[in-house]
Order: sequence, then C-alpha cells, then structure tokens
Amino acid sequence: MLKIGIIGFGRMGRLYAEELVRNPLWDLAYICDTCAETRKAAADIAPAAVFTENEDVLFDDPDVQVVGLFALADSRPAQLNKALKTGKHVLTEKPLAEDVRTEWALAKAVKQSNLMVAVNLFNRNAWYHHAIIDFIRSGEIGELAIVRIAHMTPGHMPQEGHEPEGPAFRDCGMHYVDVARWYAGSDYATFHAQGVRMWSYKDPWWVQVHGTFKNGVVFDITQGFVYGHMAEKQTHNCYVDVIGTKGIARMTHDFKTATVEMHGVNQTIVKTDAFKDKKADIMIDVFARSILAGQNLGYPTVEDSVIASDMAWRMFDDAVKNGAPCIGTPDEMDEIIRRRQTMTQGYGLPLK
Ligand SMILES: NC(=O)c1ccc[n+]([C@@H]2O[C@H](COP(=O)([O-])OP(=O)(O)OC[C@H]3O[C@@H](n4cnc5c(N)ncnc54)[C@H](O)[C@@H]3O)[C@@H](O)[C@H]2O)c1
Repeated sequence: MLKIGIIGFGRMGRLYAEELVRNPLWDLAYICDTCAETRKAAADIAPAAVFTENEDVLFDDPDVQVVGLFALADSRPAQLNKALKTGKHVLTEKPLAEDVRTEWALAKAVKQSNLMVAVNLFNRNAWYHHAIIDFIRSGEIGELAIVRIAHMTPGHMPQEGHEPEGPAFRDCGMHYVDVARWYAGSDYATFHAQGVRMWSYKDPWWVQVHGTFKNGVVFDITQGFVYGHMAEKQTHNCYVDVIGTKGIARMTHDFKTATVEMHGVNQTIVKTDAFKDKKADIMIDVFARSILAGQNLGYPTVEDSVIASDMAWRMFDDAVKNGAPCIGTPDEMDEIIRRRQTMTQGYGLPLK
C-alpha cells in the first residue's frame, strides 16, 4: 500500500478521498485543510485518516510516499516544492500555480527530480476520448483535418471561489485546450479568440478560439459557464467533433453518460457508457500502478498541463485584446449566484 496525505478537502479533495479509501493500493493517512469545519466530512469519508490544519505534518512524516495537492493554485507551488524537497511523489490538481512563469519553473523542478508528478487532466483518463483517438490513429477517418470542441454549461460563476485559478477559460478551458492538442498530436501554431463579458463582469466568461496546429490540423474550442443558468430546467452543450478527409467521429455527454459515434471507412461504431465525472478512480489507480512499476503507465503529465495552462492564458488574453463586449448586468449575475446557493442539483455547484 502507498501511504498518502492529501491537502485540500473541498469538492475535489472529497472525490479523491472517497476513491483512495476504496482502492486497496492506497492508505489515506492524512487529510489537511485550513478550514476546521471540514473535519467532520473528513471523519465521515475516511475515519482512519488523521485530520490536520498543518500541512507540515504530512511532509514531516517519512512514511508518507505521496501527497495529493487539492487546494487552490495559490498554495500549490510551495506545497509542490516541499514535496520535491522531502522526496514525495505528487498527485495534483491543475493549474499548478496562479501564473505561467511559476508553472514553468515548477515543471523544470519536477523534471530535475526523480519523483513522479501526475496532474489531473481528467479528460486524459476518459474512455470516450481514448476510443476516438484510437479510431483516428487507425486511419478510419482518413487524414485528420478539423478538431472542434465545445464545453458550455450553467457552471461555476464569478465570485464562487477559484479566484487563483483565473477566469473560466483558464480554470476549465485549459482542459479543452489540452484535449484539442492531444487529438491533433501537434502543438499550437496560430489562433484568434473572441469573448463575451457576460453580465458585464470584468472578465470574458465565454471564449471561442480557432486556429491551427503546426501539423496543419485546424481547431475551434468554445468554453463558457454561461449556458442558461436561469433556465427553468438547466441543460448544457458539450461535444467533440473531429473531421477527417474520409470520415468523422464525435462525442456528446450529459454528465451521466457519454455517447461516441464514429463513422469510418470500414467501421461504424456507436457506443454509450458511463461518463464518470472526474474519473478520480482511474487517476489514482494508474498513478499507484505507475509508482509501483517505476514508470508512467499513462497518467497525465506536468508538461501537458503547463502547456495547456500557458496556451489557455494566451487565448484568453487574445479574447480580451479583441474587445470582448459587455452583455447583461451585474444584477443578473447576482440573481444567478443567489439561485445557485440554494440549488442541490446542478453543474459545478460550490460546496455549501
Ligand atoms: N481537474 C478538474 O476537472 C477540476 C475540477 C474542479 C476543480 N479543480 C481544481 O481542484 C482544486 C480544488 O478545487 P475545489 O473545487 O475542490 O475547491 P474548493 O474551494 O471546493 O476546495 C478547496 C479546499 O482547499 C482548502 N484550502 C485552501 N487553501 C489551503 C491550504 N493552503 N492548505 C490546506 N487547505 C487549503 C479550502 O479550505 C477548501 O476546503 C482547484 O485547483 C481547482 O482548479 C479541478
């Protein structure tokens, strides 16, 4: 068993804790959160773990082999550096830091260490993306030409936390910037972005970007937590749509199930299976097996995460530069936030 201590016991920390307790490869020894009120939830989920408000308790225990960094981006750089200094492997949330310069410095430090650091780019653990990428790479759609991705939900609002993670296109959009690059199998070359300052908030909360990869594949990515927050019955619009010279493949999901439809030259495949939200079960499993094997058996890397974060900031900045117009009012934004405070079912609701 691998002894792990986790820092940050909010929405994500709890998801991981539930899976760590379930998986026989892990021994969840410590849960650290600066908010004492989370102690009760920690005791409910992992009664055998020690709860602490002091992160050094984990770092000072030589038997702790792995730390989980699930607080916010402002505290992550110091925690990651402490982990490297005390010789502990790291499973971390994204982004690694508030700013890209610090992220690249951390990436360098990780590379120079002999420790394993996995970043939760959860899409990289998704069965539906693997199915489509395998289909593309098998030649079924001819030559890949176009990658189109949308992720629009009535999700996380300004002022609901995650301030260190930045605006929606960096906080969440970096996932889709990573997915498009993974599909294309190439690095970004050119792009142009447009945003909207919904509810006249200071930052665009919807951004669309299109452009090219170095290998000539073109892309468009649309991300926005602006999709009908006040609708009587909320919905969303999330898809991947890839087009080759001969065939296509696409995916949609409703956060419960995902459906993949692949129309190739020899095969037509339609498959629906569980969406499995953040895939924390897969992440902790592949990471444990990688540590035990001494090699990366498929966990998402620091480099991929920093490239995604870096590109997401650049694209966001381009949307700002291109004059994202203000639509709506701060009163509408307050009305949405008030509604979300009483909702029990919804998209990306903050912990009460
Ligand atoms: N990969 C994904 O799809 C995904 C999805 C959601 C959130 N996230 C990331 O996960 C991280 C956590 O997000 P969340 O939604 O769980 O946030 P959250 O606000 O629900 O939880 C954060 C927790 O960290 C605690 N905390 C803050 N600073 C701390 C510190 N210095 N030491 C110990 N505890 C501290 C807070 O008290 C809180 O309980 C963020 O970085 C976010 O970007 C990733």
